[in-house]
Amino acid sequence: MRVAIGSDHGGFRLKEEIKSYLIEKGYDVDDFGCYSEESVDYPDFAKKVAEAVAKGDYGFGVLMCGTGIGISIAANKVKGIRAALCHDGLTARLAKQHNNANILCMGGRTTGLETAKDIVDNYLSHEFEGGRHLRRINKIMDIENNG
Ligand code: RB5
Repeated sequence: MRVAIGSDHGGFRLKEEIKSYLIEKGYDVDDFGCYSEESVDYPDFAKKVAEAVAKGDYGFGVLMCGTGIGISIAANKVKGIRAALCHDGLTARLAKQHNNANILCMGGRTTGLETAKDIVDNYLSHEFEGGRHLRRINKIMDIENNG
């Protein structure tokens, strides 16, 4: 499965670690930047990754900024994106089971590497449950399409 990953400077180090982790697990990872700890603007990277995921070119996306807040807000502006800011395995599992999140967001300054790996593992090892959760996602899409 192809994975799109990106971050700003605040998420750069965690992005590099999680990129390696995903590659070790056999995923085909495309890195949309940033590529150093030089200060950049997180919406630029949110847009690149979110548009790539929304187009259907990737199975899912991963985005990091300092807290994960700004980059998740920005990613969720792209139609079709459900970017979930996850803090632990439980939020990651529910982001998949209930929200069918297509982008995982994390904070490079708030989330340690082992927790970040647990987030990725929980997201990957669970499935969307559908049913009443699909009805709710359809209502999100209705807001997106019709206001
Ligand atoms: C950048 O300093 C910081 O504001 C950003 O990484 C992120 O935490 C925003 O939500």
